Amino acid sequence: MAKKDAGGGGEGRGELGVRGLEKENAMAGASLHTRLCEVLDIEHPVIAFTHCREVAVAAIRAGGFAVLGEAMKTADEIQENIRWLRSQVGDKPFGIDLVLPSNAPRQGTPEELIAQIPESHMQYKERIHAAYDVPLPHNPVALRQWGGLNKRLGLAQIECVLDERVPAIATGLGSPEFLFEAAHDRGILMIGLIGATRQARHVLALGADMVVAQGYDAAGHTGAVGTFSIVPEVVEVAGDTPVIAAGGVTTGRHLAAALCLGAAGVWTGTAWLASEESDVDPLVKQRILQATGDDTTRTACISGKTMRILKCPWTEEWEKQDAPQVLKSPFQMLLSSDYLQAANDSRRADLMTEAVGQGVAFVDGAMPVREILQGMVAEAETVLGRFG
Ligand SMILES: Cc1cc2nc3c(=O)[nH]c(=O)nc-3n(C[C@H](O)[C@H](O)[C@H](O)COP(=O)(O)O)c2cc1C
Repeated sequence: MAKKDAGGGGEGRGELGVRGLEKENAMAGASLHTRLCEVLDIEHPVIAFTHCREVAVAAIRAGGFAVLGEAMKTADEIQENIRWLRSQVGDKPFGIDLVLPSNAPRQGTPEELIAQIPESHMQYKERIHAAYDVPLPHNPVALRQWGGLNKRLGLAQIECVLDERVPAIATGLGSPEFLFEAAHDRGILMIGLIGATRQARHVLALGADMVVAQGYDAAGHTGAVGTFSIVPEVVEVAGDTPVIAAGGVTTGRHLAAALCLGAAGVWTGTAWLASEESDVDPLVKQRILQATGDDTTRTACISGKTMRILKCPWTEEWEKQDAPQVLKSPFQMLLSSDYLQAANDSRRADLMTEAVGQGVAFVDGAMPVREILQGMVAEAETVLGRFG
């Protein structure tokens, strides 16, 4: 039973509870060693997606794989993070994730792009800021470093990860053909993140080494097909290429189900947000610990592309009848960026939000990453062991 139905108590993640697992697991004896473990040289078929490098290191040390989301970082920051990760995990592999929409403008500073936003939208933004007394951001607006703002920024990020010869690169929203070739020339694995089966066919044709089939339940940018449908659909077209299930995976039962659907492992984001190592603001962690799937919404009002996040005044206002039509990426991202930065900078819990998936109902304790990962694996082994 999810924590929120259990009155906030419960024995940990999932029906069995982490602590109750050891005994049953010893009897079950199922092994989760899949082809993904071979390809990525990992013990457990669990990939942690995170923007927090400490979470990434903890997941790798716990026997999983980690992909660090660097879409909002400059090339210099990415280089620093890659070198730091290497200093922590040695030869163990990891991935870097970039978000590179194919329709990004060729160039243009954030200010030049903001100048192209229609007056009606600027006024609506001001109306929201006034209605909720949104302060000005104190810090530089992080979203204005996004590699998807223009192709020049994206290219600088790509050059950095190629030069650093990271073990794996993941890309979502856009998959530039030249990147696949350049990565493979350097022995880098390419992970394609997709939200529709036609996109899976596209990244497979480009030579993706793995495909992440991400369902509607997922945090962040997500398509319209549920995890339970998209995973087996992609498995059917992927041939020998490992398919990794994403979207709503926060317990061992989800992991077991993903393997039953034909996935070789899982790609998880929400599961780590409230972990001990996570750098998510404690106010947001608190909301995550209390939230259920109903507290999330899938909306284009943050970035111009559909994305699942915790409901907040900004998302509520863009649902209203009189709201203008959401702009395309990257203009809607630039429009929302002041609100998001100000909410974080001023630590206004009533304004803050975060990308969160529907599996959040099972995120019920601020545990160390190792405990979360091992609990997930142990529960999956137990569940699968029940079937002999
Ligand atoms: C806080 C947060 C930020 C995210 N940002 C990105 C991102 O920058 N790039 C990306 O490819 N996916 C991003 N995602 C989506 C994850 O890669 C992953 O597909 C998703 O979290 C899986 O669903 P789950 O959260 O239900 O496990 C983000 C997810 C979270 C939780």
